[in-house]
Amino acid sequence: MLDRSLKTQHAAACRLRGERGALAHLGTWLAELLPPPRKVALVTDRNVAPFWLKAAETALKKAGYATHSLQVPSGEESKSLKILGNVWDRVLTFGVDRSSVLVALGGGVVGDLCGFAAATLLRGLPLVQVPTSLVGQVDAAIGGKTGINRPLGKNLVGAFHQPHLVVIDPDLLSTLPEREFRSGLAEVMKYGWLCAPDLLAQLREANDLEGLRGRPELVDAIVRRCAELKIDLVEKDEREAGERALLNFGHTTGHALEAADGYRNLLHGEAVAIGMVAASFLAVDLGVAAATLPAEVSELLERYGLPVATPFTPADLLPYLGHDKKRAAGKSRWVLVERAGSACIVEEPAAASVERALVAIHREPTAEELPPEAPAAER
Ligand SMILES: NC(=O)c1ccc[n+]([C@@H]2O[C@H](COP(=O)([O-])OP(=O)(O)OC[C@H]3O[C@@H](n4cnc5c(N)ncnc54)[C@H](O)[C@@H]3O)[C@@H](O)[C@H]2O)c1
Ligand SMILES: [Zn+2]
Repeated sequence: MLDRSLKTQHAAACRLRGERGALAHLGTWLAELLPPPRKVALVTDRNVAPFWLKAAETALKKAGYATHSLQVPSGEESKSLKILGNVWDRVLTFGVDRSSVLVALGGGVVGDLCGFAAATLLRGLPLVQVPTSLVGQVDAAIGGKTGINRPLGKNLVGAFHQPHLVVIDPDLLSTLPEREFRSGLAEVMKYGWLCAPDLLAQLREANDLEGLRGRPELVDAIVRRCAELKIDLVEKDEREAGERALLNFGHTTGHALEAADGYRNLLHGEAVAIGMVAASFLAVDLGVAAATLPAEVSELLERYGLPVATPFTPADLLPYLGHDKKRAAGKSRWVLVERAGSACIVEEPAAASVERALVAIHREPTAEELPPEAPAAER
């Protein structure tokens, strides 16, 4: 399905290999790059462990590695200093040295967290990414961005640390909860709008989530296509000086939504989904895109059960837009799609235009979303 090297100026080449059943080859593929004997610390989360940890350990042991595994709680809260500290200490307790390897077996959270641990432990240990979520396979595991969140915003502390190896096994998606799969499709649509209208056509053809999940060969093709697009973008621009920044389509508002939400209810892909709609309204407002774009973007998202609006108001979101890391030299940067397959970056759009875009994605809260009514005495 996939076998490529990602070459960058800053690190040794990263090998990316993917096929169904790839997890069983983890040990032999790693041995081609970093042969045993050496210690391998496997980091995963508590949702992924029951399904895939044993298979990963077996594959590594069979190839001659001494493995030590550790599990972190699942969810965005694990991208924290506290959990990072636990990972540092546990991995050090294993008695790792500079030749040891860290393997991230999980979604983007485990990938970002374990990647940052690898970047910092002993001033840098080799890293292997084994993404188990759709977000991980099409995006997060590729490109060497690692990091954790801070109260002021997402991914504000981190490092670039290219993995030696990325192993993509679409079979691992079989246990991914449906909502997480949908969330990953938002990132797939992101590539589609930016530079690959063929992906949008494939998603329209599959019609909806059921149609897509019933066609594994189409899922494989989509995962491969997205992975290759990400590889190409990272090769051209590893440190996000230019083109790689296009991958932030939907993320300016998306990250603000996640922060306003306290990383509690919205999944990353769901926030990006709403963010893409906001960016589309902004593109229309600025005269960059045709008036039909927001409806086109929303239509495909809704078909796959993704949200296109939010109960957060512009006032809720604006403070967080200011802290986005995508601000270049203090400017807020937006990726705007002109039409399917073509995008540009706009810096510091007029505040009134941004506000109108945020108004356009606002909806009334549902009954469950409303804060509980104050007791009568307080009214
Ligand atoms: N480094 C990058 O370039 C980059 C790019 C995109 C996103 N990210 C980051 O990735 C994170 C989002 O990634 P995500 O959506 O994968 O979140 P995640 O890692 O939290 O995974 C989503 C959920 O699915 C579970 N899960 C994952 N794989 C599973 C499987 N095969 N079977 C059963 N359950 C499984 C996880 O335990 C979790 O509960 C965010 O923190 C985001 O900032 C990073
Ligand atoms: Zn993303």
